[in-house]
Amino acid sequence: MRVEPWWRTAAVYQVYIRSFKDGNGDGTGDIAGLRSKLPYLRDLGVDAVWINPWYTSPLLDGGYDVADYRNIDPRFGDVDQAVEFIAEAAKHGIRVLVDLVPNHTSWEHAWFRAALEAGPGSPERERYHFLPGSGPDGSEPPNDWRAVFGGSAWERVPDGEWYLHLFDISQPDLNWEHPEVREEFDSILRFWLDRGASGFRVDVAHSLVKAPGYPDTGDEENEENLLTGTLFSRHPYWDRPELHEIVRRWRATLGEYPDAMMVAEAWVSDLERLANYLRPDEYHQAFDFDFLQAPWDAEKMRIAIDESMDAVGSVGSIPTWVLSNHDVVRHATRYGLPNEVEAKVWLLDGDRSLLDPVLGERRARAAALLLLALPGSVYMYQGEELGLPEVTELPVDVLEDPVWVRSGHTEKGRDGCRVPIPWTVEGDSAGFGDGGSWLPQPAGWGARSVEAQTGRADSILQLYRSALRLRREHLTSDLEIEWLDSPKTSLAFRRGSGLRCIVNFGPDPIPVEGEVLLSSVELSAGFLPPDAAAWLR
Ligand code: GLC
Repeated sequence: MRVEPWWRTAAVYQVYIRSFKDGNGDGTGDIAGLRSKLPYLRDLGVDAVWINPWYTSPLLDGGYDVADYRNIDPRFGDVDQAVEFIAEAAKHGIRVLVDLVPNHTSWEHAWFRAALEAGPGSPERERYHFLPGSGPDGSEPPNDWRAVFGGSAWERVPDGEWYLHLFDISQPDLNWEHPEVREEFDSILRFWLDRGASGFRVDVAHSLVKAPGYPDTGDEENEENLLTGTLFSRHPYWDRPELHEIVRRWRATLGEYPDAMMVAEAWVSDLERLANYLRPDEYHQAFDFDFLQAPWDAEKMRIAIDESMDAVGSVGSIPTWVLSNHDVVRHATRYGLPNEVEAKVWLLDGDRSLLDPVLGERRARAAALLLLALPGSVYMYQGEELGLPEVTELPVDVLEDPVWVRSGHTEKGRDGCRVPIPWTVEGDSAGFGDGGSWLPQPAGWGARSVEAQTGRADSILQLYRSALRLRREHLTSDLEIEWLDSPKTSLAFRRGSGLRCIVNFGPDPIPVEGEVLLSSVELSAGFLPPDAAAWLR
């Protein structure tokens, strides 16, 4: 039995298509490659995939700069291939979620080109945020807003006006007060739903609406960081109450399609605010980034879990757990660093001897059993089932993430979690494709490949496979969690089926009783070692 509807307890696999599997040997992952790996995903045991943007794009922000929302970038395939892929995935029991990028388009989008051409004061410019500059000759940006990737959020065009871009300069923000913008996105939703998609992951769901009059934030310190997410409650461009009206409009459209859902990427200040996105007529899910950001610490993890359950429960929704994605340092690396070290900062030039990769992988195995035992839905980022670490030593001349340049080389960016997947032990790009890989893979990558791990009982891939199978059997028919007494440096809880999950975060082994269904390391004489987890009955 599973809790209906499907998404409430779904295990979703995130596909960063550019790095998943290259079907045509051009060094870039694509739909053909992804399609060839559907049996792999079926055997892994996932209910759905979320595909990062595959639309026509100059790929200046990995495809989050969309030039045509109804087309597929030729490097990835075409719309026919996408439709065939969705249909074939369904035959394997796998649903497909696509990425919706509503906050901004690419500067190559037809609307933005038209806006540039039409000039100041034109209706074409009204679909974006074009403003005159400040200062006597308008040569200063209109206000003090900062871009997430660094620098001013305004860029000047040759005729003197400035346009808003909360991310890269190639990503002009859309004006969501404009009726055509709203209508266009209704139509984009229908376009993909009509082609078989089961729903959407919505990018930067906490933005969209900007304060009337574009007031200064008035805060010098206000270089908001998307990934640390400290935002205030009445910010001129984040998490504004007016955006919820747009969400309700989308929800109504999705309501016309059976089983369709949407999940919000909303970096907001606290879980009470996140709960606003999960009201019954808004998003079906929103990623729980508090859980993702919790350090390897029993108490902090428990607080993150409890608070999330309470907050989403207050609006009748369900939790959506995630440990990694294409924007954060992979958790096998995060958990291998001391808790007080911020992985993203360390990545730039931190002391490499602080990283214990063996410990990181050991904890990642335990974290998998924690993640997959929690009530609700889970999202897994491609490669985490292989225990892939962050690739920390990418030479700076291969970095593609705009964060590297826009931050003035003070942040290395997110390429290190986007390195193409190793499928085989040997061979060109460890089986990713026949034509190299768009980001270099580190030496020894093939040793972590699917081929290397398949059929090896002690591999992390095998652990994920077993855990996903047991999860379907024991963990998807209820949303209950009952905390059990256990030593302070551990977590123990029971689910409705009677399955117990115990995670040992501390330095000493802890005694466990009962039949072991699965464990992240071998148990010795009834003891769960440090940095390990077990499922028991
Ligand atoms: C989201 C995406 C990230 C992208 C940004 C701008 O945070 O996950 O990859 O850079 O939005 O679209």
